[in-house]
Amino acid sequence: MSNENLGDSVENLLTENRTFPPSAEFAAQANAKPEIYEEAERDRLAFWEKQARRLHWDTEWSSVLDWKPPYVKWFIGGKLNASYNCLDRHVIEGRGNRVAFHFEGEPGDTRTITYADLLADVKKCANALTELGIKAGDRVAIYMPMIPEAAVAMLACARVGAAHSVIFGGFSADSLLARILDADATLVITADGGFRKGAAFALKPVVDEALKSKTNVRNVLVVKRTGQETAWSERDIWWHEALARQNPEHVAQPFDSEHPLFILYTSGTTAKPKGIFHTTGGYLTQAAYTHQNVFDLKPESDVFWCTADVGWITGHSYVVYGPLINGATQVIYEGTPDTPHKGRIFELVEKYKVSILYTAPTLIRTWMKWGDEFPNKYNLKSLRLLGSVGEPINPEAWMWYREVIGNNNCPIVDTWWQTETGAIMISPLPGVTATKPGSAMATIPGISAKVVDDEGIEVSKGRGGYLILDKPWPSMLRGVWGEDERYKETYWSRFKDLYFAGDGAKLDNDGAIWLMGRVDDVMNISGHRISTTEVESALVSHEAVAEAAVVGANDEITGQGIVAFVILRGGIPNVGGEELIQELRNHVAKEIGAIAKPRQIMVVAELPKTRSGKIMRRLLRDVAENRAVGDSTTLADPNVMKLISEGLNSGKSED
Ligand code: PRX
Repeated sequence: MSNENLGDSVENLLTENRTFPPSAEFAAQANAKPEIYEEAERDRLAFWEKQARRLHWDTEWSSVLDWKPPYVKWFIGGKLNASYNCLDRHVIEGRGNRVAFHFEGEPGDTRTITYADLLADVKKCANALTELGIKAGDRVAIYMPMIPEAAVAMLACARVGAAHSVIFGGFSADSLLARILDADATLVITADGGFRKGAAFALKPVVDEALKSKTNVRNVLVVKRTGQETAWSERDIWWHEALARQNPEHVAQPFDSEHPLFILYTSGTTAKPKGIFHTTGGYLTQAAYTHQNVFDLKPESDVFWCTADVGWITGHSYVVYGPLINGATQVIYEGTPDTPHKGRIFELVEKYKVSILYTAPTLIRTWMKWGDEFPNKYNLKSLRLLGSVGEPINPEAWMWYREVIGNNNCPIVDTWWQTETGAIMISPLPGVTATKPGSAMATIPGISAKVVDDEGIEVSKGRGGYLILDKPWPSMLRGVWGEDERYKETYWSRFKDLYFAGDGAKLDNDGAIWLMGRVDDVMNISGHRISTTEVESALVSHEAVAEAAVVGANDEITGQGIVAFVILRGGIPNVGGEELIQELRNHVAKEIGAIAKPRQIMVVAELPKTRSGKIMRRLLRDVAENRAVGDSTTLADPNVMKLISEGLNSGKSED
């Protein structure tokens, strides 16, 4: 959302005055009690030290924090192993037989994996990585479907001190290649394919395509998931063969608190994705602390299900690291929510007696659209807490989630955070906070955020502005991989020594925080960040396109949808339009991945530009959202908008 729209939305929210305090029963048993806020307030660093003691440290830190903006270090001098904290510790302390993952494949195959099973696989995988020459400090690209081996691969990397870079399985060969090159990965871990929407899709051929270019990748380790025919070359190794020949023992070595744990690429305002870089001690501390307090996890009795793929930060922090450190039992599911039927997620909630469900507003809105009959068919009584993440949740969807999924007795935690923040930052605490539908409410204990105006001055209650974080936090990104200037420029240049998140927010009259969406050129499609520039570059890389402008338009289901305006090259006839438009949409999917496929492409003769040549996206957004076009007096050619609006419905296209 552009900043100029913030004011209007602020007005609308002032009318939301429903609040939902936790029930007395929930509050009485909650992990986090009201005093936790005071405790953190009293001595923030002592509070974080206490949270860090959740972990097993081979060497304790000598100082808590080293903050030289914008560079931070936490728990300096401390040494630990991430994989040991997720696995060995539970087995040593007698929890080896506890289920770590109830895995459900899309075709209905299942696996029950205990902590002891998971540790055994991770040890063998760690030995296999060592055999392949992977050492501490190396980078490993992981390109996998949502199967348990994805978590095994991540934990094995962490165990040997190699940073993993997980690339979502929906990305194209070009996107994969760009990430392999940027991180200079020397190994790729993948699968032959996975199951999605009732069919097998292939992953290995995408890796082969990417590796046609010159990289430093020496080997490709391949999990056999679908059994489909797979081309093979000398650098390829089957996962099951490599693991079978390994020594089952592996002793995890401790690494420095600031040792790299992973890189995860996310879109920024330019076409090149940013490698968000996280380290070990602080990240694990905040992942574990938030997972236990925000989700109220009771590891002996809860079944936790975060529906995110490990290709996104949510899967890193709340499928792999946070829950495993806390000894949680989880559900992981490979497929889509509508395969083989629209009640699939609810069927699995019933089957595994899921008690905590964490998902995205886009899925909640999709369920609303499908109708209540699907959730109503299943017994969802096991649920006791619901979470939301990835984009603002509109009050209607929040209420539906509460009533239809939560049977009016589950607290909802709307959690705001980012790939960059590593873990939850703003959220209700479920046994403490009286929630308002659509608001993430307040920073969690230990975290500090403010809403500021253009000058960096904190706004008063009832007003909107930019969300900033004014104190360093343990799971803060440590940089953008290989791009220090970009790190400083993107996050720290807007306001001096304050982290600028890129989101608009407002404070209501009670001081509760309402997130209002991005204020930069980043779109949020189904909770995934995609930059307008990235899609524009993909479009102009097609021979038919001379110029392109992309905006995120409101979308009932996905939050925002991608709408592109393109000018064709001279001499390219736009005959009938539709065929070329389909081709352009597919071209974007091929260049970036299916998640970036524009919802709509409009062929136009001109783009609205200021006299200095800047595209006025605000006006294009008005067109894309079917609004009257706003003030266009600064346009170089005032007639352009009329021409564009007239062509509005040509080239509308839906899948
Ligand atoms: O715009 C905010 C939105 O998602 C962005 C972060 O995206 P990503 O790094 O992909 O991480 C998504 C999962 C943590 C934010 O800048 N966002 C995330 N959670 C919320 C949200 N917007 C509103 N409410 C949320 N709860």
